[in-house]
Amino acid sequence: MVTARYDAIVLGAGAAGLMCAGIAGQRGRRVLLVDHADRPGKKILISGGGRCNFTNLGTAPDRYLSANPHFARSALGRYTAADFLALVERYRIAWHEKTLGQLFCDGSAKQIVDMLWAECPDMWVKLTLGQAVRDVAVTDGGFEVTVGSERVAAERLVIATGGPSIPKMGATDLAFRLAKQFRLKLVEPRPALVPMTLGEDQALFRSLSGVAAEIVAAAGRARFREAALFTHRGLSGPAILQASSYWRHGEQIGIDFLPDAPGDDLLLEAKAARPRATVRSVLAQKLPDRLAGALDEQLALDGELANLPDKRLRAATQRLRDWRFTPTGTEGYAKAEVTAGGVSTDELSQKTMEARTVPGLHIIGEAVDVTGWLGGYNFQWAWASGWAAGQAI
Ligand code: FDA
Repeated sequence: MVTARYDAIVLGAGAAGLMCAGIAGQRGRRVLLVDHADRPGKKILISGGGRCNFTNLGTAPDRYLSANPHFARSALGRYTAADFLALVERYRIAWHEKTLGQLFCDGSAKQIVDMLWAECPDMWVKLTLGQAVRDVAVTDGGFEVTVGSERVAAERLVIATGGPSIPKMGATDLAFRLAKQFRLKLVEPRPALVPMTLGEDQALFRSLSGVAAEIVAAAGRARFREAALFTHRGLSGPAILQASSYWRHGEQIGIDFLPDAPGDDLLLEAKAARPRATVRSVLAQKLPDRLAGALDEQLALDGELANLPDKRLRAATQRLRDWRFTPTGTEGYAKAEVTAGGVSTDELSQKTMEARTVPGLHIIGEAVDVTGWLGGYNFQWAWASGWAAGQAI
């Protein structure tokens, strides 16, 4: 038996769900916001090392992966990074730009969660925590949802339960199960922004655990110049996480260890300028010592540069600029910052995020096949898609 009726039920009180509930509540819609966690916005709380990289000034559709690269344009264009920043400033939350347009709180990510919750008017938005969503059904008047032991109903249902990345934070694949229930197409979900693993044979990297360097990581045509971190299992750091989103099993990753060198002549130029130098000493001027040593070992060019043929020096520089290897895999959902793929954008209106074949059903945030780069882009998508649905429900 239905115990309460709302205008909308929002499943998931994460980034997108909180934004959506707030906007709908401000429009005088009665909203039930449901989460199985014991508090809202848990991923926001741990994001950006506890300071939440809440948006990126460079937000643009080309910073997102999706089977339809144009889909995100509408929501991102209507609710921009500047809009979210204006909200942050309205709440007097101090912030700073770290690098590459990434905006962080000076204080704590909790300020963002508190702000989003303060944006949900008490009178209109009810929050139910610690309750599992048991069952969702379509009815004549909309939807019925069993939450814990209660059966609630609404004209509109919003799925904002994110993707399965970091299950220990309470992430589940509920959005994808519901999408299947509603016969909505999924783009195969996969872990993204995730460390990559290497095999025993990839000794160069495995010997470097703990070393970090600024490099360019390339996967297909995507290239990212940021730090890479060598770990005991493989490779991590922003450049690698970014590349991982574009990588598919069996494909190669390329690393440019000399991102500042203008061409392929670094070692040749060094030979002309300092003929008594060694490959190792030249590399040590550009790279952390252990990395220089490991690369030197692999290149196996012993002795002074003066005694090494130009052809071999040019080939070695080329190799350093495009060091290719095939990761064995990734660290999976346990370590993935986001889930790529998800509910196909073909199924949704880009204006309202409503499912074309299920009137009244909206899907927002990470559950949708729109995945941002590292650096605040994923929250901006959560805010923008949540805002778009919040205007429509
Ligand atoms: P989100 O995951 O935020 O919310 C989903 C909600 O649904 C959760 O509250 C969850 O408890 C709930 N839920 C799930 N299953 C449920 C079920 N079966 N029943 C009921 N409730 C359920 N992005 C960025 O832009 N800047 C950053 O700094 C970071 N940092 C960062 C750090 C770490 C460690 C991670 C894991 C991720 C990030 N991200 C990030 C990514 C960002 O957190 C992510 O893209 C957004 O939180 C996605 O917002 P959603 O609202 O879609 O999902």
